[in-house]
Amino acid sequence: MTEHTPDGLPTPTRDQRAATDALRPCHGVVRNQRGDWILLRHDLVVQAALDDAGFSSAVSRYLQIPNGLDGDRHAAYRQALDPFLDAAALEPFLDDFRRIATGLVASLPRGGSVDAVSNLGARFAVRAQSAWLGWPAELEDRLVDWVAENHAATRSGDRDWTLRVAEDFDTLIHSVLDTRRDGQCPGGARDVTSALMRTQVEGRPLEDAEIVSVLRNWTGGDLGSIALCVGVLVHRLASDPALQQRLRAGVAEAEFDALIDEILRIDNPFLSNRRITTRPLTIGGVDLPAAARVTLHWTSANRDSAVFGDPDALDPQANRAHNLVYGIGRHACPGRLLSTLELRIVLRALLDATASVTLDPDDPAERAMSPAGGWSRVPVILR
Ligand code: HEM
Repeated sequence: MTEHTPDGLPTPTRDQRAATDALRPCHGVVRNQRGDWILLRHDLVVQAALDDAGFSSAVSRYLQIPNGLDGDRHAAYRQALDPFLDAAALEPFLDDFRRIATGLVASLPRGGSVDAVSNLGARFAVRAQSAWLGWPAELEDRLVDWVAENHAATRSGDRDWTLRVAEDFDTLIHSVLDTRRDGQCPGGARDVTSALMRTQVEGRPLEDAEIVSVLRNWTGGDLGSIALCVGVLVHRLASDPALQQRLRAGVAEAEFDALIDEILRIDNPFLSNRRITTRPLTIGGVDLPAAARVTLHWTSANRDSAVFGDPDALDPQANRAHNLVYGIGRHACPGRLLSTLELRIVLRALLDATASVTLDPDDPAERAMSPAGGWSRVPVILR
């Protein structure tokens, strides 16, 4: 929602980073109104993410695979699921992703306003993911709506609504699974959803509830985050014509990817993840009891001047080793390669098909609200 100045002119909504930037120099750990402990400093976030014996990921009473698992069980599921997201598994889909990105960018109007988040990022993410998982194109609108409602429900804190949204997703996934029973395989040999249904963990096939949970986590990771990442990246390019022209002229893939990571570090739209303490412990000089709810604030940690100096200075090489956009430790994002490939492909398609991308002067970009970071809308003009 756009806020208004006293004279009625729209202003961009509040940048959540300002609050954590202001708190972090004096308070590495803060407590919110709900009683949760928020880790703001880079060293503390890393400490908690690496101490999986003291900080459990079993934060939800719902099944969350692999996100909500700890210890050996977590390792067994990651071992079974990570191969779906490695370079060899993703390679067969890259041409599809390129075709989808090129077609989508070609369909966007020139000279008029385009929202980089909903018109480009969300549409691209859903189409690319459907191509990867072998899902029918008819699901596109339902998936886009589901991601938006899932964000709204999480933001509201309304448990009934969140539960209803989760159930809606289960229904949607079951429709996809039902077309794959009895050996049917609509996507042929490379149908990832069918392959997931055949996957074994600890010597037995995954149960339906587990498959739904995996697909919910892949979908949540992919659809929502990719759309927000596209918003942050396009906003940066539209605000920085020199960088835009340098990338349009052509840079090596590794340099392109490093720049993407660094732009996301500065304005990380995937704000945080939760943990729960398994025993009393001390972090950042603060004593936490057992069962304390703890938030690892990636966005704040990624702007810690003790590690990055000026948090807004773009320095991919110097900062890459400490970048926490995809987390760290045993729960670090298994979808990192998929998202890097998707982001590179969609940005390249945008740059290749345009001479300039500029912010729409009549429609300011709007900041996202927690639990999302980055921008909820980035209106741009393509020429
Ligand atoms: C688009 C940008 C993305 C960002 C910024 C992102 C970020 C993260 C972060 C910070 C974590 C660590 C969570 C923790 O420590 O609790 C994580 C975990 C995870 N991500 Fe991503 N992610 C992205 C895309 C994806 C994609 C494309 C997928 C899969 C298709 C995915 C699937 C997952 C899963 C399943 C986990 C849980 C891993 C575990 O608990 O072992 N993510 N992600």
